[in-house]
Amino acid sequence: MRLTTLLPTLARLGRPALALGFLALFSGCDLNFWRMDGHQSTINVDGPVARSQRDLFYVTCWVSLVIFILVGAVLAYATFKFKARSAADEHAEPPPQGHGNPLVEMGLIAGSILALVFIAVPTLKAIWFTYDVPAVEKANAYEVTGTGYQWWFKFEYPGELATVPETKGQAPLVTANELVIPAGRPVRINLRTMDVIHSFWIPKLAGKVDMIPNRANFLWLKADAPGYYWGQCAEFCGDSHAVMRFRVIALGAKDFNAWLDSQMQPARKVEAKVADAGKPKAQFASLRSFKTNETGFAVGNQLDVSPLEAWQAKQFPDAGEDAALIAKGRALFQAKTCVGCHTIRGDGAQGVTAPELTHVGARTTIAGGLLENTPEQMQRWIHGPAAVKPGNKMGKGYIDNKISLTADDEAALVAYLQSLK
Ligand code: CUA
Repeated sequence: MRLTTLLPTLARLGRPALALGFLALFSGCDLNFWRMDGHQSTINVDGPVARSQRDLFYVTCWVSLVIFILVGAVLAYATFKFKARSAADEHAEPPPQGHGNPLVEMGLIAGSILALVFIAVPTLKAIWFTYDVPAVEKANAYEVTGTGYQWWFKFEYPGELATVPETKGQAPLVTANELVIPAGRPVRINLRTMDVIHSFWIPKLAGKVDMIPNRANFLWLKADAPGYYWGQCAEFCGDSHAVMRFRVIALGAKDFNAWLDSQMQPARKVEAKVADAGKPKAQFASLRSFKTNETGFAVGNQLDVSPLEAWQAKQFPDAGEDAALIAKGRALFQAKTCVGCHTIRGDGAQGVTAPELTHVGARTTIAGGLLENTPEQMQRWIHGPAAVKPGNKMGKGYIDNKISLTADDEAALVAYLQSLK
C-alpha cells in the first residue's frame, strides 16, 4: 500500500485504535499500576529523602504542564483563528507582518525567569536537605558503610564489634546484600567501591548516589516505619549490572538490637540433638514478590505473607535439620576452596573477596539479591553460578580451581549454608 493511501486510512482508524489501546491497558493492569506502586516506585515512597526527591519532581511537572497548556492554547488559537476559510483566502496576500512587540517580548522573558525561580528555589532546598542528615538529627544518625563489588554489595557496621573466633578478637560487623537498618532513625551510608563505578539506589528511600573509585561519597536516608525495600545498582558496571540488587530491611529499635546481637555471634553449629529445635517457618512458597522482582516490574503481586514477615521467618532455624549432612557441607566448604573467598566466622573461612556468609541462612536473597534464598535456588546457584549471573567471579573460580561438585556435594553445601542463621 502506498503511503498516500495509507495515511488517510490510518487517520480514520486512529480514534478507535486509541480507544482500544487504552482499553487494553486498563484491562491488563491493576490498581498498583495506576497508583505507580511497584517495589521500586519513586512515587509511593517511604522516607523523607525519597519524598523530597518526589516532591521536586512534581514541582517541575506542574511548571512544565502550565507552560505546555499556555503554549498549546496560543498555538491552537492562532491555528484556528487565522486559518484559510475559502479558496480566495488561500491565494490572498499575507496580512501585514509585525516586527516585535516589546510588551510581549518582555513578558515572555519575565515569564521564563519566573518559571526558573519556581523550579530553582525548591531544587536548592531539596539539594540541601538530601545532601546530609539535618543538623537536629545528626546526633541520632546511625552509620553504615556500603561497598560495591561486581556484582554485589558489602555492608559494614563500624560501630558494632562482632566476635571472630579465629583471631580470638573482634572486628566490625560485615554482612552482604541485605542492609538491615533501624527504622525511624537517620542512617548515613558511606559509599565505596572495590572496582568500577556503581550507584546506590533504594527507590522508595533514597538515591541515586554513585560509588566511585578513590572517592568518599555518602548518602543519608530514613525509613518512616519498619519495612522491606528493594535496592538496585543504577550505574552500568559490567555483564551483570542489571541483576546487581540488594534489599534494605528497616526494623524497630528492639528488633534491630536483637538482629545485631545475633549477627555478632560466630557461625551457628547444629548438634544432632537440637536438630528439630526450629520455630515453625511462615509459609512463603507462593510468595511472589521475588518472582515479580526477577522479571523487573511488580504488577498485581499477591502476597500471602509480607516480605518483612518472610524475612523474619528466615531468622529461625529450619525444622528437620540434618546435622550429619551439615557437618559434611562444612568440610566441603573447606575442601572445595570456598574459604579462599568467603568469610564464615568460627568455621575457619576468612576470605574477603566474596560476600560474607556467617549468617547467610538468615537472608531472604542470595547471589546479590537476584535469587530467593531457598534450598532449590541455592543449589541452582552453586551448581552453575556463571549461568545464573554471567561474568561473576564464582563461575570463573570454579574453572580456575577445577572445582566440580556432585549432586550430593551440592545438597550438603546447601544444608550447611541454610543452617547459618
Ligand atoms: Cu553495579 Cu551496576
